[in-house]
Amino acid sequence: MKIGVVGAGNIGKTLGGSWEAAGHEVRYGTRAEAGSIFEAASSSEVILLAVPADAALEALEEAAEVAGKLVIDCTNRMGQAAFEKGKSKAEELAAAAPDAHVFKAFNAAFSKVMKNGGKTHGQKADLAFAGDGEVGRERLEKLIADAGFAPLDCGPLENAYLVEALGAAMIYLGFGANLGADIAWKLIR
Ligand SMILES: NC(=O)c1ccc[n+]([C@@H]2O[C@H](COP(=O)([O-])OP(=O)(O)OC[C@H]3O[C@@H](n4cnc5c(N)ncnc54)[C@H](OP(=O)(O)O)[C@@H]3O)[C@@H](O)[C@H]2O)c1
Repeated sequence: MKIGVVGAGNIGKTLGGSWEAAGHEVRYGTRAEAGSIFEAASSSEVILLAVPADAALEALEEAAEVAGKLVIDCTNRMGQAAFEKGKSKAEELAAAAPDAHVFKAFNAAFSKVMKNGGKTHGQKADLAFAGDGEVGRERLEKLIADAGFAPLDCGPLENAYLVEALGAAMIYLGFGANLGADIAWKLIR
């Protein structure tokens, strides 16, 4: 797939590198290089917004050509007090880009585990995601698998708040409860 990665920080470079290694064509867009966010997005069928949550809407607007494309929101809002249906960051982005396939994914995993190809403590981690439609779902499941994780389908976009809560809980467990950044979610079933 052709993937535009917006934000070449920790997550952008890590996931972009995994996808390149899996044979995808990855282009990066950064605010430092004028026009590069639009170029990366307009030449791709998948867009990863790997920027702080507060910057995601602005980055999406700069990407501009997102209709019919999978847009992955991996952001975590720090210090968020409540997680409510209808109030997730992913739904906010979807409302701004109704013709895009916006999915919440990759927020509930630490970069350390991503860098280790989705494995930690000798196991393959689950990667929770939520979003609407089969087009985005199929592409995303492939990209999750290509990053080394097992896709964990948490249902429609209105469930994105649940995936966001998983991310917040993980941040607490990793840093608040000092379990470290090599923990990961796995559903026993
Ligand atoms: N780190 C993790 O383990 C982890 C795990 C899951 C999800 N996440 C989420 O992933 C996202 C990225 O995290 P990260 O760890 O990769 O952070 P990071 O290393 O600080 O990278 C953030 C990137 O966003 C760019 N950026 C900031 N504001 C921007 C704007 N207004 N427009 C365009 N680009 C902008 C920065 O560009 P500059 O270089 O120009 O500052 C930087 O390249 C965050 O939402 C975070 O919550 C992180």
